[in-house]
Amino acid sequence: MVTTRLTEALGIEHPVIQGGMMWVGRAELAAAVSEAGGLGMITALTQPTPDDLVAEIEKARALTDKPVGVNLTILPAIDPPPYDEYRRAIIDAGVTIVETAGANPEPHMDMFTAHGVRVIHKCTSVRHALKAQSVGVTAVSIDGFECAGHPGEDDVPGLVLVPAAADRLTIPFTACGGFADGRGLAAALALGADGITMGSRFMCTQESPVAPTVKERIVAGTERDTNLIFRQLRNTARVAKNAVSDEVVEVLARGGDFADVRELVAGRHGRKVFEDGDLDAGIWTVGLVQGLIHDVPAAGEVVRRTVADAEQILRDRLAMFASPAAV
Ligand SMILES: Cc1cc2nc3c(=O)[nH]c(=O)nc-3n(C[C@H](O)[C@H](O)[C@H](O)COP(=O)(O)O)c2cc1C
Repeated sequence: MVTTRLTEALGIEHPVIQGGMMWVGRAELAAAVSEAGGLGMITALTQPTPDDLVAEIEKARALTDKPVGVNLTILPAIDPPPYDEYRRAIIDAGVTIVETAGANPEPHMDMFTAHGVRVIHKCTSVRHALKAQSVGVTAVSIDGFECAGHPGEDDVPGLVLVPAAADRLTIPFTACGGFADGRGLAAALALGADGITMGSRFMCTQESPVAPTVKERIVAGTERDTNLIFRQLRNTARVAKNAVSDEVVEVLARGGDFADVRELVAGRHGRKVFEDGDLDAGIWTVGLVQGLIHDVPAAGEVVRRTVADAEQILRDRLAMFASPAAV
């Protein structure tokens, strides 16, 4: 048992969180992670309406008695989703743990706190983590440059970002981005984190709703098979390398602007990748860590072996270096 400040603050068994994932974070996956003692996350905006989100939460509850969280990604947009209505649905459904991401969670904190919802804010820099801590979140998830999705613009990998966060934060936090196994969990704990949040690893599991070809591509993929798009727009996203993301990189590098790639990056095409399995239908998200993913296990198995392997590394391999016999 790896017990940390995070497991205590959230009332979970293992310090392993499944981060929110658009089109992927549905009830079956989230419930499987939670049932195994980690913390699964339903992704609010994958559900077309707040009522659909409530139904999805109920579906997860039918699969596990353990707490399941909800990710609320609050991205600034010209025509934003009704974030306040999703927040209301989360609270009314009795969810007790929320992962926020995309923007400062402050506007939502009063409502969440008043209803006993604990917030884990996901961010990509120590300064944003400190800000989140100052507005009362329970924990932070700090994403290094390795991560799938939005790594921010600082380009600081976890090996520096995680201990830098540990030096400054007083609340529990998870290391996120580039984690797939017990080696990662043991390393995160050594660097000062209280646990890990994983995305890509959980996307490549049996309960993940993405098409089998996507899982096969992740297993076949290496750590070199991602692209960073939107660098010039200062809205960087790490996505799978394919014909579409190659073209987006090329158009923007030639001086194109968002209008020139808008159709290529449209979310409906990316969704087709996950639903139909056509890997070049659009942009889809995955991290460098696919280079460490070699199978498609049950999500609960990922939780169990990550913790068991980390324990074994901490107890045997690392203890060996510290033992008097080794020095
Ligand atoms: C397919 C996919 C979709 C994602 N969508 C979201 C999202 O909607 N909101 C969010 O906060 N993070 C999202 N993420 C990021 C993950 O929650 C997590 O931070 C990231 O995957 C960590 O990096 P890793 O893949 O190396 O574990 C997504 C990740 C993936 C792989």
